[in-house]
Amino acid sequence: MRNLVWISGASSGIGAALAAAIPFPDARVIDLSRRGGVVEHFPADLSDPADWVRVEQHFASELAGFEGDRVVFIHNAGTIVPIGPAATVDPEAYTRAVLLNSAAPQVLGRAFLRAAADLNCERHLVMLSSGAATKPYPGWSHYNAGKAAVEQWVRTTGAESNGCRVIAVAPGVVDTAMQHEIRSVDEQAFPAVDRFRELQRTGGLITPEQAARGIWSLLDRPLASGTTLDLRSL
Ligand SMILES: NC(=O)c1ccc[n+]([C@@H]2O[C@H](COP(=O)([O-])OP(=O)(O)OC[C@H]3O[C@@H](n4cnc5c(N)ncnc54)[C@H](OP(=O)(O)O)[C@@H]3O)[C@@H](O)[C@H]2O)c1
Repeated sequence: MRNLVWISGASSGIGAALAAAIPFPDARVIDLSRRGGVVEHFPADLSDPADWVRVEQHFASELAGFEGDRVVFIHNAGTIVPIGPAATVDPEAYTRAVLLNSAAPQVLGRAFLRAAADLNCERHLVMLSSGAATKPYPGWSHYNAGKAAVEQWVRTTGAESNGCRVIAVAPGVVDTAMQHEIRSVDEQAFPAVDRFRELQRTGGLITPEQAARGIWSLLDRPLASGTTLDLRSL
């Protein structure tokens, strides 16, 4: 096996489309998620710090002595729920969302960089971001803060010498379960909900397959480590 690829959240949406469109032959593809999909599955609840430790051990054991051409980790798992003003949402769900959206990318990203540190092959770490990293949407506080954290983590680790190209990509508005969750709440919870309903009515969403093609194309582009970009700007 020449290519070893991890995708978190490959059980649905953009992650599943990424797993279905691996652009290299001879790849082993491992999905880090709770449900699993069609590729090899490492079951993990990435809002649970105990599972971060299991994933770190898994990275280390799989990458020890790896002699292939390329290792890739696309950290794609994320959640938009709970949606609503911070003062009103369910506290336990909010804590889980903060752990998943803000802390997991940093901890798992660090674990991957460390496990890959001594390899000589091509190394890529790609984090899924969002326009919400820079534009605040009332009702999405944990999501906005999480994506802002992801982008600053990528800029920072991208400026460190770790032998890995680290980038963050916002995919645009993609027709997945997450968009369904966004459209299903009322304006009290999410004042901008009509904009997202209108985008769906007017065909303004791209498919997960289009997003996956765009994300995979980034591996061949001459992007500096630390780059944060939006697929819509390509
Ligand atoms: N859709 C959009 O318009 C859009 C726009 C900008 C950015 N993004 C970003 O793109 C990424 C994928 O989003 P999507 O739209 O494809 O969402 P999705 O269809 O809801 O899929 C989310 C994925 O994340 C995984 N996940 C959620 N909670 C998890 C947990 N606790 N532990 C492990 N895995 C978990 C899910 O797997 P399990 O449920 O099996 O665990 C699922 O595979 C996210 O980072 C999102 O923020 C999406």
